[in-house]
Amino acid sequence: MTGPWWKSAVVYQVYPRSFCDANGDGVGDLEGLREHLDHLEWLGVDAIWISPFFRSPMRDYGYDVSDFCDVDPLFGTLEDFDHLLEDAHARGLRVLLDWVPNHTSDRHPWFREARASRDSAKRSWYVWRDGSPDRPPNNWRAAFREGPSWTWDAATRQWYLHLFLPEQPDLNWANPAVVAAMHDTLRFWLDRGVDGFRMDVVHCIGKDPALPDAPEELARLPWCALNDHASTHGLLRDIRGVIEAYPGERVMVGEVVLFPAERVAPYYGREDELHLCFNFSPLWAPWEAEAWRRQIADTERALDPVGAWPTWVLSNHDNPRHRTRYGGAEARARAAALLLLGLRGTPFLYAGEELGLEDAAIPEARIRDPGGRDGCRAPIPWEGPDAYGWANGDPWLPWPPDAARRNARALGADPRSILHLYRRLLTLRRGVPSLQRGAQEMLAVPDGVLAWRRTSDAEPWIVVVNFSDAEQRVPLEGSFRVAAASDGRSEGTAYSGRLAPEQALWLRG
Ligand code: NOJ
Repeated sequence: MTGPWWKSAVVYQVYPRSFCDANGDGVGDLEGLREHLDHLEWLGVDAIWISPFFRSPMRDYGYDVSDFCDVDPLFGTLEDFDHLLEDAHARGLRVLLDWVPNHTSDRHPWFREARASRDSAKRSWYVWRDGSPDRPPNNWRAAFREGPSWTWDAATRQWYLHLFLPEQPDLNWANPAVVAAMHDTLRFWLDRGVDGFRMDVVHCIGKDPALPDAPEELARLPWCALNDHASTHGLLRDIRGVIEAYPGERVMVGEVVLFPAERVAPYYGREDELHLCFNFSPLWAPWEAEAWRRQIADTERALDPVGAWPTWVLSNHDNPRHRTRYGGAEARARAAALLLLGLRGTPFLYAGEELGLEDAAIPEARIRDPGGRDGCRAPIPWEGPDAYGWANGDPWLPWPPDAARRNARALGADPRSILHLYRRLLTLRRGVPSLQRGAQEMLAVPDGVLAWRRTSDAEPWIVVVNFSDAEQRVPLEGSFRVAAASDGRSEGTAYSGRLAPEQALWLRG
């Protein structure tokens, strides 16, 4: 298939703390991930994105980086990483890292030096403002905790900016020395052979130098969901230049947390900024046909005119899993897989969704994350109890619900399981140009149902999703065969024109 690989790829997100523990400390590691590459190859994904495994004090579980160019000992060594990358590549899996350009840890040597004195050579690598200790420089709110995105540094009597925790000071990307140093961190990993980066809150790196207040009506939102400054675009073009100096089609996937999709579109630039951007509005849409019809239309309206290739994501490490959000029924989780993998764009899966996992219940004594996101970060059960395939059966977070049944080994042994459904869908998708890259056209169907046609030069395919809890008659022009059914029934038969409650189908023309 022509065109860059990332347009037809399916990307699988690994949250390394929770994927698999090989060394018995209760926290997942790179070796645990390497040991499960066979699962990913069998499943049929094309690339993995690994959430941060760099050196970190773990105040934000790796998104507070104290050395961008080393592996935290909790996860292994640089050698382990090289080994992982080599094994992944040998299996045809690309590897994306999670680059965190907006901030560092307050333990990063750059910030330690910056904080040491107002005259420090690194002072201007971060964002400092004068003021009095009782009044932050503006009304920007930090994420995760109530309160300002400013912390008063009593020793040097200035405020520093942090859009997230106080332990995550924002870098000053208006300083060319920061730009150069951060470019070098990309080169470090590009030289080792990585295929690209997911870029953490990358829309936040350029800031209005005047640091103006958020408008009153939006001031309760964290500033990281509002920051949208023109200077970011030039910074992204330069970053793209760094990436494109390397051979192969290395990719930049931006986490752009802006709403609606119209505000995300400019971050693709004119094919000279991000290759792909996350689009988070659909992630929050309820399981309702009308809501999804709007999400799909909004995405097309925002991205198609500028030639921006969409992405779709239902779950990640920051939000309750979609099965949990949709009420827990497996039928919905199954139908959602056909929805996600049937839309035009690059889908991102979150580890464990192929097992139909729901969020873990987290007793108060076991809360770890200041942002309340532990539930979706529960460890992946590979086998049954007691240890669930982990070297230590007592991991850093509790197991997700029903892990004795919902684990990779048990579901792998059952051809009717949700795991096998994901595998069938991914295998089918790989061989079908219409699904991977084809145009998309919505069809007129009854309320409670969505259907769209995917076409390329090859045969057309139709995706039909019954969001309702009633059987639906959905007559379609032409004759179709059922290539995939969310409940596994009727696959390989002629399409009957009916869908069971909460059933989704992929139909081959
Ligand atoms: C977005 C990441 O997805 C999230 O996990 C992290 O806490 C923030 N950015 C800060 O880096």
